[in-house]
Amino acid sequence: MSSEAASEVAIRPAREEDIPQIVTLVNGYAAQNLMLPRSSEEVRRTLKTWIVAEADGKVVGCAALARLSPELAEIRSLAVAPDRKGQGIGARLVHTLVDVARQEGIKQVAALTLQQAFFERLGFEVVDRWALSPKIWSECVYCPKFHRCDEVAVALSLAVEGEEDAHRPPREAHLPQPAWALTPVSR
Ligand SMILES: CC(C)(COP(=O)(O)OP(=O)(O)OC[C@H]1O[C@@H](n2cnc3c(N)ncnc32)[C@H](O)[C@@H]1OP(=O)(O)O)[C@@H](O)C(=O)NCCC(=O)NCCS
Repeated sequence: MSSEAASEVAIRPAREEDIPQIVTLVNGYAAQNLMLPRSSEEVRRTLKTWIVAEADGKVVGCAALARLSPELAEIRSLAVAPDRKGQGIGARLVHTLVDVARQEGIKQVAALTLQQAFFERLGFEVVDRWALSPKIWSECVYCPKFHRCDEVAVALSLAVEGEEDAHRPPREAHLPQPAWALTPVSR
């Protein structure tokens, strides 16, 4: 990873003016069948659950944390701009959402992904997709690949208070402390 390049990138809560860039970024990958598409309306409705990576005034990465239950949250729409891949931005976005989830008292963070190795690199483990909350699958009915799903379920267990967490991924010292509150995604 190029730490110099990544250090110019700020991770922050998404704002209204980021929505067009978020939608363009996500839907660019959705067109390649790498993730689900998102509409502006959908992003606007769930804006408080989104974070972005910003560099030179532009959104170069994004992700959202959907709180599915008091114990489970799902990382969604994780995307890094093609020309910014491999600079640690995806890892920083995931670490930030994991920190948010931890502050919210979430016990497990999950994702459905084609990028199994990336998530494993960050300490996630492959889990039985059917063991995950049915709430995760509620979104799958909107996916064009519903009947031929090739995504893998991964999950990271978070430490409960006072407990060591062997699964905790290394946290970069320069990450901002997330100070914003997530609101549950309405379904
Ligand atoms: C997957 C994605 C978010 C990774 O973001 P990124 O910024 O390129 O990844 P990072 O630079 O933070 O990589 C972190 C670590 O994971 C590794 N990694 C990154 N992508 C990987 C992949 N596809 N397979 C295996 N390892 C990967 C990196 O080598 C790095 O390891 P290191 O710490 O040993 O250097 C990005 O490639 C992307 O946007 N892909 C298209 C959209 C997509 O598939 N999103 C996931 C939907 S769940």
